[in-house]
Amino acid sequence: MKIAIRYYTKTGNTKKLADAIAEVCNVEAKTVDEPLTEDVDVLFLGSAIYAAGIDKSIKEFLQNINVNVGCIYNFSSAALIESTFGQVKKEAEANGLKISDDEFHCRGAFKLIHRGRPNEKDLNDIKEFAKRIIN
Ligand SMILES: Cc1cc2nc3c(=O)[nH]c(=O)nc-3n(C[C@H](O)[C@H](O)[C@H](O)COP(=O)(O)O)c2cc1C
Repeated sequence: MKIAIRYYTKTGNTKKLADAIAEVCNVEAKTVDEPLTEDVDVLFLGSAIYAAGIDKSIKEFLQNINVNVGCIYNFSSAALIESTFGQVKKEAEANGLKISDDEFHCRGAFKLIHRGRPNEKDLNDIKEFAKRIIN
């Protein structure tokens, strides 16, 4: 099974989640600045919420995919909003990409809110999520 991990981060939280998935999948987690260069079965895509929206680089990454992607699995963190899933799903589907309803979300530290998140438990939870997807 061919697996890729891409993410966008402003303050490091999504990178922590992406690196936890990378540990389980034995694949390097890269930022969305690095386009996919070969077909993949599974694409783990990580994002967060800023001023109520996902960053435009996630949208651009999805628009510019020109390889075959079996299925996207969304993972995200935010301080208040429950998930980026709805926004990412909309963008993915607008570009003809399949995205699973099976997604991962946890709280992400923002200023004084949710300090320390994602924490050890969040990282273990996302590893279990990734294992479930790839096994
Ligand atoms: C500039 C900025 C704006 C944010 N706006 C929101 C928001 O509108 N709603 C929300 O739930 N979280 C908001 N957050 C919190 C982030 O979604 C949360 O900290 C997330 O874990 C950040 O991920 P990152 O460290 O990978 O960038 C904001 C964070 C930043 C830095």
